[in-house]
Amino acid sequence: MAFDIEMIQKVYANMASRVDAARKIVGRPLTLTEKILYSHLWDGIAKQAYGRGVDYVDFAPDRVACQDATAQMALLQFMHAGKSKVAVPTTVHCDHLIQAKVGASTDLAVANTQSKEVFDFLSSVSNKYGIGFWKPGSGIIHQIVLENYAFPGGMMIGTDSHTVNAGGLGMLAIGVGGADAVDVMSGMSWELKFPKLIGVKLTGKLSGWTAPKDVILKVADILTVKGGTGAVVEYFGEGATNMSCTGKGTICNMGAEIGATTSTFGYDDSMRRYLAATGRQDVVDAADKVASYLTADTEVYANPEQYFDQLIEINLSELEPHINGPFTPDRGTPVSKMKAEAEANGWPLKVEWGLIGSCTNSSYEDMARAASIVNQAVELGITPKAEFGINPGSEQIRYTIERDGIIATFEKMGTKVFTNACGPCIGQWDRAGADKGEKNTIVHSFNRNFSKRADGNPNTHAFVTSPEMVAALAISGRLDFNPLTDTLINDKGEEVRLSTPYGDELPSRGFDVEDAGFQPPAEDGTGVEVVVSPTSDRLQLLAPFEAWDGKNIVDAKLLIKAYGKCTTDHISMAGPWLRYRGHLDNISNNMLIGAVNAYNQNTNSVKNQLTGVYDAVPAVARAYKAAGIPSIVVGDHNYGEGSSREHAAMEPRFLGVKAVLVKSFARIHETNLKKQGMLALTFANETDYDKIQEDDTINFVDLVDFAPGKPLTLEFVHADGSKDKVVANHTYNESQIAWFVAGSALNLIAAQV
Ligand code: F3S
Repeated sequence: MAFDIEMIQKVYANMASRVDAARKIVGRPLTLTEKILYSHLWDGIAKQAYGRGVDYVDFAPDRVACQDATAQMALLQFMHAGKSKVAVPTTVHCDHLIQAKVGASTDLAVANTQSKEVFDFLSSVSNKYGIGFWKPGSGIIHQIVLENYAFPGGMMIGTDSHTVNAGGLGMLAIGVGGADAVDVMSGMSWELKFPKLIGVKLTGKLSGWTAPKDVILKVADILTVKGGTGAVVEYFGEGATNMSCTGKGTICNMGAEIGATTSTFGYDDSMRRYLAATGRQDVVDAADKVASYLTADTEVYANPEQYFDQLIEINLSELEPHINGPFTPDRGTPVSKMKAEAEANGWPLKVEWGLIGSCTNSSYEDMARAASIVNQAVELGITPKAEFGINPGSEQIRYTIERDGIIATFEKMGTKVFTNACGPCIGQWDRAGADKGEKNTIVHSFNRNFSKRADGNPNTHAFVTSPEMVAALAISGRLDFNPLTDTLINDKGEEVRLSTPYGDELPSRGFDVEDAGFQPPAEDGTGVEVVVSPTSDRLQLLAPFEAWDGKNIVDAKLLIKAYGKCTTDHISMAGPWLRYRGHLDNISNNMLIGAVNAYNQNTNSVKNQLTGVYDAVPAVARAYKAAGIPSIVVGDHNYGEGSSREHAAMEPRFLGVKAVLVKSFARIHETNLKKQGMLALTFANETDYDKIQEDDTINFVDLVDFAPGKPLTLEFVHADGSKDKVVANHTYNESQIAWFVAGSALNLIAAQV
């Protein structure tokens, strides 16, 4: 599992020259974020200053991490790149597909049976292509990345939105879609709009019941779920250096909940301590040599208002514990105000469950602080009023807290110890009685609390708070319990008080583990066979999409004219379809089923021009494909907004759609369509959208002259024989046109090997 010290040393070797050159070009002191961005330019030394929130820039990330749900399609695509090995260090983590029900050993055995073929596939592809594989039960992706791979000043991408967690170790770590990960694994650059910068100055010091979690709960309350969009949040100040490294990870983790591109902290002693405790003194030695490049220039933090687009200041000495929710992580309530808020809003006061874990809060310190509260309850003779469950963040954490008696403490309170995995955080929680839909309250230390997320019950009011507050609220059984001021009645009827939580930042006897659950890849993977059953309904090997035949597309049928909002969820729904994320044919049965048909205002009901009968969108697309007829999708504004999931582009490609013509695109989806070898076009004149009729047949007039900056012309032939010519703009450059010609970006990479 060894981290790649040589790669890290290489990054540091380039740092000084690249950052110094960037500072000269930009003409002012640099923030940490800018230093990391400019030292990871694909083209090496900076040749120009980039506009924040304006310029798209190519970067060269140092690492890639994938979780089991998203890795399937990413790796199926990577297999087509024709590479014998990944170009940058990459890991795969099995953490999403394990349900929490009875307890770790039983639940893990069930998952290993139910998802065996997916795990076997991920294991064999990883083994073949030089990817580190973390087995089911090894832990949650972001905790393992922090423990093993994150390093100050590095840049990584991951196919999970909480990849941002690695900012706790001073990285710029960013969540992406699988197609982006495939590019980087294949040795290509990765594009990002140069972000805006939000500075958060932390003064004072955390104490008592207040934890790092409360910092981000407060920031979420201030910025809301959209406030960080397009920005990197950079934390600094004495409050930042006074905090543990894993606490910094918690804060960066929930940067995803404010929509931030990522969050980060400058290199400091807490990172040195954490790196050393996790067996990476080599990284400390290397980082110390370039320490001034691993934090902002001194002038930046002295006069932050001059260098950040937005500045927030929080005094940690005055910060109260927060409880955010229900249903959204940005609805913040300080613990002292919860009684009044809960009563005013009719939130159920009885707490049914307390859950500790998720990638947000499952460090040694988190577990130790929560256990200190549980221990007090046991010693004070209080029987807890709510049920309690924990998901340790990694096997290393679980083994160490078991050795140190922390698990035994939790078990004294009847706590269920679930697998080292996401569990309830991703809705993998078989909660007894949740199907009854009763209104109830749970508290957890996770990051997201959207309706139905944990247990599928829309009436579960989930509140996000720190692990120690979860413990206190679960013991009291009350949402309005304030451990700073309130007392509890113990089993003998005596009035007792919980004192402040305490937990070591790092285990005094060091971390320990017997089997961390890591499978290193084969040195030479050429002989490794990738296991995919041809009868599987969850996995399917991909066949390359066919190359363009060099002719105009003619006699295409209109598949759907989508009306209004059409996000990636409308194009490729999640929920039950998650199961088919590794099977393109099966998941294509959800293609555009959420899009509204402009002609009848219904979803998943479009006219099959061959029969005149209305049918499901995927069924009609399949009928055209079977008849050898190309099809075209027409859409409205900001088509494809939402997630970066590549399925939303792969499914139409697979079902024979050749072009998507819309009023405007969400940028990532537009790129995804291009990568899959499709034509992503926009109306030169938006009102032409109204000319498209339900029975139209479409001919391209000048596709044979496809060139950068040159609009294309399409002829729409209506049922009565009349015709409309529509001019379509596009943003393809030469290399993107080459993707179209080759059939996909991957085909092109494979052809170049
Ligand atoms: Fe897993 Fe929840 Fe984190 S799903 S990766 S624990 S946000």
